[in-house]
Amino acid sequence: MWNIAILVFTVLLCSPSIASSNRIISRLLLPSPVTGPESLAFDPADDGPYTGGSDGRIFKYVGPSDGFVEFAFSSPDRNKTICDGISDFSEIQKTCGRPLGLAFNYQTGELYIADAYLGLLKVNSDGGSPTQVVSCVEGKSFRFLAGLDIDPQSGVVYFTEASSTYQIRDLKTLLGNGDNSGSLIKFDPSTMETSVLLRDLAVPSGVAVSKDGSYVLVSEFMANRVLRFWLKGDKQNTPEIFLQLPGRPDNIKRNSAGEFWVAMNNPIGSPPPSRSPVLPLAVRVDGNGYVLQEVALVEEYGTAMVSEVQEFNGKLYAASLDVSYANVFMP
Ligand SMILES: *[C@@H]1O[C@H](CO)[C@@H](O)[C@H](O)[C@H]1NC(C)=O
Repeated sequence: MWNIAILVFTVLLCSPSIASSNRIISRLLLPSPVTGPESLAFDPADDGPYTGGSDGRIFKYVGPSDGFVEFAFSSPDRNKTICDGISDFSEIQKTCGRPLGLAFNYQTGELYIADAYLGLLKVNSDGGSPTQVVSCVEGKSFRFLAGLDIDPQSGVVYFTEASSTYQIRDLKTLLGNGDNSGSLIKFDPSTMETSVLLRDLAVPSGVAVSKDGSYVLVSEFMANRVLRFWLKGDKQNTPEIFLQLPGRPDNIKRNSAGEFWVAMNNPIGSPPPSRSPVLPLAVRVDGNGYVLQEVALVEEYGTAMVSEVQEFNGKLYAASLDVSYANVFMP
């Protein structure tokens, strides 16, 4: 049963005073021809960002002169000669890997990876080759993992399977047809147990655990909404609607104040809407689902999807599956 606590999206979205995105500080380019930095992560020393690319490698940004350098890869069987430089939706991406969600365990320094094809993996703080953590749940191999977050205190891992029917190479079909075979999954490294928290989700792309670990948010891209699943307290183990949105929500990222940034997009293939809000847009919301800030991204991204916006040390970082760089801008 749904615990209906709909927190209606505020009138802020209709206000004309949306900040524009022409505050770009820098553009962090992936090594050509790699594309698609879908999500970003910073390590326990605040270095990075790290991101996954179309050819299965994970890159670390080391500064303006060297840019993004190879740090790790997500396929244990990856052949560098064949894989380096391949593009998204290539047939061999299945064996080369396609890292999407990334998050560090702040106690161990390990980087966890939600790979679209290969499941949940991790690499140690030196990078290099990965170790498989989970490849299936309830006896079924993962088909399309996407979002990932880790509770900063407990190290518990939350991740999403966007679809158990389609793979990332069928993304266009998936988004054209709709699908509700996705799920929100939990992996506890202290017990090595994996459990499904929510199923039958409409393309759950992003996930973020609250600062106090009492709930986890999951976006349903095709349902234009964000759900909250309670992990503790009176409503433990129940979901509710956290945000109903006028666009498609992708990744969700917590900031240091415990608020969340949600990247919101137009439905694929649809003409840009004629009225406000102009998408793509990043919204900052508090733990009650109230919108605190909006940042328009249309100038910078046009019709490209913005996969993620996150706030780190006073700056905003935007990532996209459709371009070959991450943008850094003023909040
Ligand atoms: C990687 O692929 C290349 C090109 O097909 C091949 O020559 C090489 O033997 C492969 N390496 C391994 C370790 O399989």
